[in-house]
Amino acid sequence: MRAESPRLTRAGPGRDSDPRDNGPEDFKKSRRGHYPSPTPQTNKPNSNAKHYPPIRACKSAPPTVSSIYNNTLYHKLTHPMHINRIAIIGAGTMGRGIAQVFAQAGLEVLLYDSDPDALAQSLATITERLRQQCVKGHLQEAACATALDALQGIERLEAIDADMIIEVVPERLDLKLDIFTHLRQVAQARTILASNTSGLDISALAQASGRPDKVIGMHFFNPPPIMPLIEVVRASETSEETFVAVIALAERLGKTPIPVANSPGFVANRILFPMINEAIYALAEGVASAADIDRVLVLGASHPLGPLALADFVGLDVTLDILDSFARRFDNAKYCPCPLLREMVDRGELGRKTGQGFFSYP
Ligand SMILES: NC(=O)c1ccc[n+]([C@@H]2O[C@H](COP(=O)([O-])OP(=O)(O)OC[C@H]3O[C@@H](n4cnc5c(N)ncnc54)[C@H](O)[C@@H]3O)[C@@H](O)[C@H]2O)c1
Repeated sequence: MRAESPRLTRAGPGRDSDPRDNGPEDFKKSRRGHYPSPTPQTNKPNSNAKHYPPIRACKSAPPTVSSIYNNTLYHKLTHPMHINRIAIIGAGTMGRGIAQVFAQAGLEVLLYDSDPDALAQSLATITERLRQQCVKGHLQEAACATALDALQGIERLEAIDADMIIEVVPERLDLKLDIFTHLRQVAQARTILASNTSGLDISALAQASGRPDKVIGMHFFNPPPIMPLIEVVRASETSEETFVAVIALAERLGKTPIPVANSPGFVANRILFPMINEAIYALAEGVASAADIDRVLVLGASHPLGPLALADFVGLDVTLDILDSFARRFDNAKYCPCPLLREMVDRGELGRKTGQGFFSYP
């Protein structure tokens, strides 16, 4: 029975239990003997994976929220803030996709990464993606040139002149707090500071920033150029003006903004990541192969992508960080990451970005 799982018991005051705390034998027993060592058997090349349908954009997003804000608050503000120049901090999986979205929407984009190689690689990737869109006829030659002109890599974070700065560094609160503390000094007073966090506390970032009313969550989904949703996370400190400006910006990008509260994981990830975690437990317990677990969700629940392929796509390190933060913030052991996930991350199997996760990506 579920309630007997050690994931739901307490290891001590204020601390969620981790099944590994009791040693591998106890954990194995607790999983009813179905916890094989995570051998590469689980990571065999999966010929079925390539048959998964591509991620599709949802065309039926409800128009209600954005139109309410458009018709009321936005037009009532005397000087609604218009955002034209964006700086993005972190040029990894998400940062580069977000930069592409802004550049294609006609905004000026400054892209920064603490790793100069990552920055150069991201600029090259965005250029290649835009050119590919031209070749396929999805983007006019002139629009491609305009987007590329609008995009600029920067090597330093000092004296950034931008209407808005979006932080897109890894999902670690300490790292994000350092950045918001630094921005307190270097960003102009008018600048809105947003985070693309998957579920960390926006209020904590707001406090670090020294301008809490101008801090907000703008949670894009992967891949940003394709996924239509942006969760707009309003902390208690976020001003009406900041909120409305970001809703309007999201609409300018052609996305559907949905306001959500500043609660761990917001809406999407609070639901998605426990599901991914459970899929990893099912794999670790030998309930089915990775390919079959995913096929069950694709064929039985109409998911466009199975949970394990989704975890590979997101990055297993990011997935682990998100589940760890849920376990801490909800103070509930049911969110503790499956040990198999942690072991894969320790081995450097991070999913698509390293070529190996639950599936192989040659
Ligand atoms: N990967 C996803 O599917 C996904 C989806 C939605 C949201 N997110 C969120 O987006 C954020 C970034 O995730 P990602 O998948 O793009 O991570 P990533 O690891 O691919 O990229 C992070 C980038 O940040 C850079 N970086 C690290 N420290 C930095 C610093 N101090 N200053 C500047 N750059 C720094 C790294 O060099 C790297 O290029 C996380 O908060 C994550 O939760 C991720």
